[in-house]
Amino acid sequence: MTQAVIESILSEERLFPPSSEFAQQAHIKSFSDYQKLYDYAKNEPEKFWAELAEKELHWFRQWDQVLDWQPPFAKWFVGGKLNVAYNCLDRHIKSEKRDKTALIWEGEPGDVRTFTYAQLHEQVCRIANVLKQLGVKKGDRVGIYLPMIPEAVIAMLACARIGAPHTLVFGGFSAEALKGRLLDAEAKLVITADGGWRKDAIVPLKEQVDRALENNRVPSVKNVLVVKRTEQAITMKAGRDYWWHELKADAAADCPAEAMDSEDVLFILYTSGTTGQPKGVVHTTGGYNLYTHITTKWVFDLHDDDIYWCSADVGWITGHSYIVYGPLSNGATILMYEGVPRQSNPGCFWDVIEKYGVTIFYTAPTAIRMFMKMGEELPKARNLSSLRLLGTVGEPINPEAWMWYHKVIGGGCCPIVDTWWQTETGGIMLTPLPGATTTKPGATTFPFPGIVADVVDLDGNPVGEGQGGYLIIKHPWPSMIRNVYGNPDRFRRTYWEHIPVKDGNYVYFSGDGARKDADGYFWVMGRVDDVINIAGHRLGTMEIESALVSHVGVAEAAVVGRPSQVKGEEIVAFVTLENNFVASKQLEQELKQHVVAKIGAIARPAQIRFTEVLPKTRSGKIMRRLLRSLAIGEEISGDTSTLEDRGVLEKLRG
Ligand code: WT7
Repeated sequence: MTQAVIESILSEERLFPPSSEFAQQAHIKSFSDYQKLYDYAKNEPEKFWAELAEKELHWFRQWDQVLDWQPPFAKWFVGGKLNVAYNCLDRHIKSEKRDKTALIWEGEPGDVRTFTYAQLHEQVCRIANVLKQLGVKKGDRVGIYLPMIPEAVIAMLACARIGAPHTLVFGGFSAEALKGRLLDAEAKLVITADGGWRKDAIVPLKEQVDRALENNRVPSVKNVLVVKRTEQAITMKAGRDYWWHELKADAAADCPAEAMDSEDVLFILYTSGTTGQPKGVVHTTGGYNLYTHITTKWVFDLHDDDIYWCSADVGWITGHSYIVYGPLSNGATILMYEGVPRQSNPGCFWDVIEKYGVTIFYTAPTAIRMFMKMGEELPKARNLSSLRLLGTVGEPINPEAWMWYHKVIGGGCCPIVDTWWQTETGGIMLTPLPGATTTKPGATTFPFPGIVADVVDLDGNPVGEGQGGYLIIKHPWPSMIRNVYGNPDRFRRTYWEHIPVKDGNYVYFSGDGARKDADGYFWVMGRVDDVINIAGHRLGTMEIESALVSHVGVAEAAVVGRPSQVKGEEIVAFVTLENNFVASKQLEQELKQHVVAKIGAIARPAQIRFTEVLPKTRSGKIMRRLLRSLAIGEEISGDTSTLEDRGVLEKLRG
């Protein structure tokens, strides 16, 4: 972040208070109401959460203890029994919501399917029975590698219903990446589709699953359940692979929801960190259900007649928490869209909003910047007047994009909630409450009630007003990461040991840099670790480097992020070659393709720079700061005294 950006943040004077019209109908109606909730939650956290848990969720059995905190391991609602699928479906079909639309799905080639709560419940029960019939038991992990089709939601809820933790792998990840995740999670079964639609082309999902599993490379996987979507030819391995629609037709339409322990694992979701291997973030049942439920209700100010659309993919945490679990637990009508804006259909998002009368729209800054580039004629040619609230997530939003979103999409009258959170936090942590908080373009404003956040230095001391520091969370919260799957050491090291523990107080280290301005608003500046954010997708530089060095021609690789107008950041890779390899355009293409094959298209480097040497400190650490400067064409400044070989800089420039 440049000095100019920092100064503009600290002097931001544009204020957007909620309209009285919005505030009056909102769940949280004023800033003083927010402050009362915040103070109550801070002073009496266990009472605050217990009261909400009792009021907002159905429990088969009450908990004995609200919070058991053995840092850094937390247990919420200890002894309580519940089922997330029951809270998302069964309790609604026992109410007047039975025939309410739960899910509207608009498919890529224009097909539409809708499900009432009763219909969704039946589908989920049938698939839950199919899973059982294939030998999936409570506690067994199920891999889900599906496009944005209703079956993804059905599969997740079916797993939740029988207590089998799911692990979704985004359909844009490669066979290699899929294999790594299935291996780590020791998945017993994989649910996939013959293919998925992506920008007028087919992604061969089943073929990738076959490749991931070939030569029994993931021995834990016994079966593959295949949804028919694109209908192209695939091979079905006898005894291993089954068609979803065939087994579903024979399955019973009734399947009781398993009474899960509050701390039973609901899902594992892999995300990038600072090492080469993505980590399996573990989320459990009770706390996650409660936190995503209440944040959906208050942050999006959800009401019964809303048509709610979150444009994320279900394969990311945003899709888990704010397409599926949070909204369905509230009995909302959710919209799911398979398409992505592209040359042949640039206005498709606005068509969807107009067609279904979407009232709440939640998307990412990278998408907003892309829409800005496409021009405001597209949204202006549609009737977007149904919208009443806009949200953004995934990376810092630049004030220009915020203003565009506000004016062009929101017609100048929709509140914008800029929500900061992470795969690890499970739910939204810093956010405006739309009827209560005066927003500033680019600020995530204040912590959600129950969240105690601060900006500190490396010793854990709060930094002064306007100063940069590390964003940390001080008190456990219900949807917090419980562990890194199979690796408690990594869990402890990554999140709890960066900031020294004082008086037994552990603080959660987010990996983000932030500032608080004179009014106490939080501004998130971006990652401070070796994680980069490409179009709202999180990737570790080490992960991409490992992919590059696995190519025979590559000796060493160093990857940095470079600012990009639309994507936020893009990847620049510095590569040294083995002796018998020569730099060429063709090799550059080959290496890019190699990364795509190893990780997926989201990790394709924008540029590969061949170099003879990489700048290192005397202890052998690659000096990324220098590479970052080189990547954006900046003059090298600052301290280079630790450079092992000062001639390296000259060579790199040349
Ligand atoms: C990282 C988490 C959970 C949502 C999707 C991404 C960045 C997320 C914001 C925001 C500034 C943001 C952070 C964070 N981030 N939301 N509103 N303002 N930065 O989840 O893949 O776990 O990535 O996304 O850098 O650490 P994720």
